[in-house]
Amino acid sequence: MKRNLLIRNITMLGAAALAVTVAVFAQDAPAKKPAPSTATPAAAKPSPAAVARGKEVFDKKCAVCHYADSDAKKIGPGLKDISKRGTFTVNGNKVTEDSLKTWIENGDSLMPPFKEVLEAPQIKDVVAYVRTL
Ligand code: HEC
Repeated sequence: MKRNLLIRNITMLGAAALAVTVAVFAQDAPAKKPAPSTATPAAAKPSPAAVARGKEVFDKKCAVCHYADSDAKKIGPGLKDISKRGTFTVNGNKVTEDSLKTWIENGDSLMPPFKEVLEAPQIKDVVAYVRTL
C-alpha cells in the first residue's frame, strides 16, 4: 500500500516535470513570423501600380492644365522633373509626398482644389505619378 502511494507520487512528479518541460519548450519555440508590414515608409518608391493609376487620374483631371512631359507652362506650370527640381515653382516649397498632397487637395488661386473631387487613394496615386515625372 505504502509502496503504491510512493510510486504514484513519483509518477505525478514525473508528469509535473514533463508539463514544466513542455511549457518551457513552448516558450522557446520560435516566435510567430511577424506579419508583413503594410505601412509604406515615407521614402519608399511608390508601386508601379499606384503610378499607373495616378497617370489615369492625371490624364483626366490635370492634363488640361499641366504638361507631364515638359516644364513649359500650359495653364499651370509644366510638371516634368518636378521631383528633380525639388521645389514648387509657385512658392518655392519643397516637393514632397506631403506637400504635393496638400497642394492638390487645396489647390491655389488658379488651380481648383481636388479634395472633394478625388478620393484620398486617387490623390495618393496622382502624387505617386507626379513624383515620377
Ligand atoms: C484648371 C487648371 C488646373 C488643373 C485642372 C490642375 N492644375 Fe495644378 N496648377 C494650376 C495652376 C494655374 C498652377 C499654378 C499656381 C496657381 O496659380 O494656382 C498649378 C500648380 C500646380 C502645381 C505646382 C507646380 C509648381 O511647380 O509649383 C502642382 C504640383 C500641380 N498644379 C499639380 C496638379 C495636379 C496633380 C492636378 C490634377 C489632380 C492639377 N494640378 C490640376 C492649374 C491647374
